[in-house]
Amino acid sequence: MREAQARPVVNIVGERVALSPLRRDLLETYQRWFNEFQTLCTPCDMPRPVTLEEQTAQYEAIASGSATRVGFQIYERATWEPIGTCALIDIDHRNGTAEFVIIIGEPTHRGRGFGTEATRLALDYAFTALGLHNVMLKVYEFNRAGIRAYQKAGFKEIGRRRGARRFAGRRWDVIYMDCVADEFTSPVLSEIFRPDSPRPDSQ
Ligand SMILES: CC(C)(COP(=O)(O)OP(=O)(O)OC[C@H]1O[C@@H](n2cnc3c(N)ncnc32)[C@H](O)[C@@H]1OP(=O)(O)O)[C@@H](O)C(=O)NCCC(=O)NCCS
Repeated sequence: MREAQARPVVNIVGERVALSPLRRDLLETYQRWFNEFQTLCTPCDMPRPVTLEEQTAQYEAIASGSATRVGFQIYERATWEPIGTCALIDIDHRNGTAEFVIIIGEPTHRGRGFGTEATRLALDYAFTALGLHNVMLKVYEFNRAGIRAYQKAGFKEIGRRRGARRFAGRRWDVIYMDCVADEFTSPVLSEIFRPDSPRPDSQ
C-alpha cells in the first residue's frame, strides 16, 4: 500500500477527488501514464512513445498559463495520491465553449468513481468559474467506462461519426457528447463564486 502524501495545493475539492495545478515534479509520472498503451488505446487514435522532452513541452505550454487550455492534476483525496489529469482545451471565451479530456493514469484507480467526479468538477470549473456555456468531448464507441462516466457526470450524446475509428479488427463510431451550463448543477464552486451578502447594517 502506498503511503499517504502531504496535501498539495488544490483548486477544487470534491468528495473523493480534488483538482489542482499540474506539477513539474510529476513529469516522470505523466510520462509513465502517457506511455501506457493499455491506457492510451481508449483515448488516442495512434498511441506512440512519448519522450520526457515532449511531455515537458506539453507541460510548459499549460504551465505558462494559457487562456485557451487549462489542465488539472487529479488527486485521490483520501491519500493525496496523484491519479490522473484532465483538461479543458480549445477554450473559446467569446462563444463560451471548450472540449474536455481526461485520463485516470493509475489503472488501480479506474472503475472506482474517480473519473466521474473529476469530470463533474471540471464541468463545475468550466461553467461556474469560467462562465462557459457548452463543453463537448469525443469518445470512442468501445470505451464503455468513459461513456458511462461522462453520462453520470452530466454529458449527453449529441451525435456520432459512424465507423470513423478502426480498432481491434473492426470499425467503431466516434461519439460526440456535450453538457450545457443550464443543465448542470454546480457541486462545489457555486458556494465559492458568489457575491458577498450585504451586512444587516449596510444600506
Ligand atoms: C475513462 C476514464 C476517465 C473513466 O474514469 P473511471 O474512474 O474509470 O470511471 P468511473 O469509475 O467514474 O465510471 C466508470 C463507469 O463505467 C462502468 N464501466 C466500466 N467498464 C464498463 C464496461 N465494460 N461496460 C459498461 N460499463 C462499464 C463502471 O461500472 C462505472 O459505472 P457505474 O459507476 O455506473 O458502475 C478512465 O477509465 C480512464 O482514464 N481510462 C483510460 C483513458 C481514457 O479512456 N480516457 C478517456 C478518453 S475519452
